[in-house]
Amino acid sequence: MENRTVTLSTIDLREKRADFPILERQVRTGVPLVYLDSAATSQKPKVVIEAMDEYYRKSNANIHRGIHVLAEEATAQYEKSRALIAHFINSPSSKQIVFTRNTTEAINLVAYSWGRTNLKEDDVVLLTEMEHHSNLVPWQILSSSIGTKLEFIPVTDDGLLDDEVFHKKLELKPKLVAFTQMSNVLGTINPAKYMIAEAHKSGALVLLDGAQSVPHFPVDVQDLDVDFLAFSGHKMCGPTGIGVLYAKRNLLEKMPPFLGGGDMIKRVYLQEFTANEIPYKFEAGTPAIAEAIGLGVAVEYLKSIGMETIAHHEQKLIDYAIKKIGAIDGVNIYGPTAEKKGGVLSFTLTGVHPHDISQILDRYGIAIRAGHHCAMPLHDRYQLSATARASFYFYNTIEEIDCLADAIYQVKDIFGA
Ligand code: ALA
Repeated sequence: MENRTVTLSTIDLREKRADFPILERQVRTGVPLVYLDSAATSQKPKVVIEAMDEYYRKSNANIHRGIHVLAEEATAQYEKSRALIAHFINSPSSKQIVFTRNTTEAINLVAYSWGRTNLKEDDVVLLTEMEHHSNLVPWQILSSSIGTKLEFIPVTDDGLLDDEVFHKKLELKPKLVAFTQMSNVLGTINPAKYMIAEAHKSGALVLLDGAQSVPHFPVDVQDLDVDFLAFSGHKMCGPTGIGVLYAKRNLLEKMPPFLGGGDMIKRVYLQEFTANEIPYKFEAGTPAIAEAIGLGVAVEYLKSIGMETIAHHEQKLIDYAIKKIGAIDGVNIYGPTAEKKGGVLSFTLTGVHPHDISQILDRYGIAIRAGHHCAMPLHDRYQLSATARASFYFYNTIEEIDCLADAIYQVKDIFGA
């Protein structure tokens, strides 16, 4: 989405709401649910719920082990999902798709397996100030154990990465640059393709945190030329407990296993083992089979809508939200202008704590998130302890943003703000 070539049009995804049973719910005093917390987790369409139900009713078995019909069906469905996900991000091979529990586990896998093998004391890992804790803490753990140095690209007042400092930091010759493709707080869509090319010129590999990007706009790993990409199933209409690490084949081939146990081995002796081939080398123990199958169905569902269509609908929502919510006296919105961000609106209201905002909105059936959103250093950067965050997906409507605005006026009345 570095180049938004398709014009905003009359795309209306309203009919897709019927695919999500939960969106029919009434909450609290019988008001309709207005779900504006998809950056935390997305809702699930019927096709995903039914596919998982069907799997448990008809094909439940362990994979890669049994030679009976259920084991064959379960294995085939699990591996089909891997292939669908590979296609979704344009991975050259499904062997480069490692199933993990989530983005966090995928990044920990890289930090542990690639990091401990390829980094040494004083090597630089370049991160940014806008990272989620899951792209900070694994590198801090690595740093405290082997002495690597962490450097950071700062965030400008308008919520962008400072390009000049990025280039200065590249002169330190980092071994790895790891950054989010889209901030879960500011909504900033970072210029990933450009940053990856610049990092490669300086000799660094790049890990992209795709937790907020892969669900919302087309991500093509070959076009980006990214070395590692991590993302979660539950933010893209899939179930919890399943995530993905994509990596270039030569990297995966050389990386040692992260966890040891069943399925990740070729042969085990009393004193040693030989590792399985990729991607199984990184999938120790019985995996989240139903969840992987559910994620495969989720990506097919997203493709049936079209990732460009989803991106443009969300662009329309954020553009409207910034204008509508930004016009409320006392509201401060964080992050860049609409054309540089995805559907995430973090804001504060002068005189009211974000938790109080969230609690009052909940009375009107509006679900948002309040707090530091697992990005404490970014909040420190803005000298904030918390923000209120409304986040959108393709099933949200302009009317829901109007509801949010009306409810914020109620919050102001209640608190005299
Ligand atoms: N990372 C998720 C969020 O931003 C949980 O809410």
